[in-house]
Amino acid sequence: MALKITVIGTGYLGATHAAAMAELGFEVMGLDIDPAKIEMLERGETPMFEPGLEQLLRAHVAGIEGASGRLRFTTSWEELADFGDVHFLCVNTPQKHGEYACDMSYVESAVESLAPLLRRPALVVGKSTVPVGSAARLARRVAELAPAGEDVELAWNPEFLREGFAVQDTLHPDRIVIGVDGGRAEEVLREVYARPVAEGSPFVVADFPTAELVKTSANSFLATKISFINAMAEVCEAAGGDVVKLAEAIGHDERIGKKFLRAGIGFGGGCLPKDIRAFMARAGELGADQALTFLREVDSINMRRRGHMVELTREAVGGSFLGTRVAVLGATFKPDSDDVRDSPALNVAGQIHLQGAQVTVYDPKGMANAARVFPTLGYADTALEAVRGADVVLHLTEWREFRELDPAALAEVVSTPRILDGRNALDPDVWRKAGWTYRALGRPQA
Ligand code: UDX
Repeated sequence: MALKITVIGTGYLGATHAAAMAELGFEVMGLDIDPAKIEMLERGETPMFEPGLEQLLRAHVAGIEGASGRLRFTTSWEELADFGDVHFLCVNTPQKHGEYACDMSYVESAVESLAPLLRRPALVVGKSTVPVGSAARLARRVAELAPAGEDVELAWNPEFLREGFAVQDTLHPDRIVIGVDGGRAEEVLREVYARPVAEGSPFVVADFPTAELVKTSANSFLATKISFINAMAEVCEAAGGDVVKLAEAIGHDERIGKKFLRAGIGFGGGCLPKDIRAFMARAGELGADQALTFLREVDSINMRRRGHMVELTREAVGGSFLGTRVAVLGATFKPDSDDVRDSPALNVAGQIHLQGAQVTVYDPKGMANAARVFPTLGYADTALEAVRGADVVLHLTEWREFRELDPAALAEVVSTPRILDGRNALDPDVWRKAGWTYRALGRPQA
């Protein structure tokens, strides 16, 4: 009999995982504690913007015409526990208020709700990013609570999906990592992932702590790479060098590689910033804090970028924000997403606004979320409207739409044709030819 799969938590990770599991041919049931989210998903709508996800949902959600019907949603733990052979935990683990550590309460409450209802053999698979040591602790808790006793096992299977590429990353993962502690867990997960493995995804089997650490160390490495190039941008600015050229040149070395070397206003989002902080906090608890002190520097280089962007903008408008108009292109933490969590773009826009400028923001997908976080900023419906009358334009999220703007048309409506590229993603020659003063982080001024 084919395995039946459940997905607990239907945010970015869970909604994508549930749809992908249905696409792989499994019967799937998704649960969320938020009934509004479940109602949306049942209509084939996603609570967030993620390219290709809505299409995938509509191909499988039961009740939608032409769909496979393999994907259902519920808010009932009983229904979920009765249904599933494999239960994926996909709830979020945000940063705790006022400390670096991550908040495990959603993971814990999912386990406390599910485990007492597990009356038949089942595998509980954690996908959330958790502090090392959590899987072992949760495995003990599941064993204590589940009526089926030893027939219920736990495994850890970290997720590496990138927002904007979530569907592709879930259906064709560049690796599948599982943490197991004996039993049938590996065999069951090999069955779940048979298709991607047959298509070439490497399948790495590890113990619990290693699997948990793979995720946090991968994100730490990526964050370090971005902060490294941003540190080089600081040095380039001081020395008159060009960080874009430098990144291109060092990237030719295969050991370094070209990816994740785009200097700019730094990383944000729901993962990298909180994951490196939670990792430092956990290492401290384990007595290994010295090993990760470099992450403190990675974090501080990253946060410095936002302040630096604010200072460059202040300089551009003549030393004071009072009475000036600043246009901001981009609010999300990266393109192809509507996510504004810890977004460097929105943070910079907010700081400038708080210091007295009139700030108008435009973002292709992130306006509603941005307005919820920062209702006092101005919002425009198009890039052209946002820049109307601006003393300076800031390019802070590298959407394709912004690369395709016509600088000549924009120059006609601004007060001063001056642009600061916080993502090193626009073509300086094109903007300068259209009469703009173009400046970017880590590059010489023309
Ligand atoms: C990240 C990891 O990439 C993913 O594997 C993990 O599962 C979750 O966290 P995500 O948060 O979607 O994914 O974003 P990512 O593409 O990694 O970008 C993070 C931030 O870094 C963005 O703000 C982006 O703009 C910034 N960034 C990225 C740079 O500033 N420079 C770069 O060269 C690359």
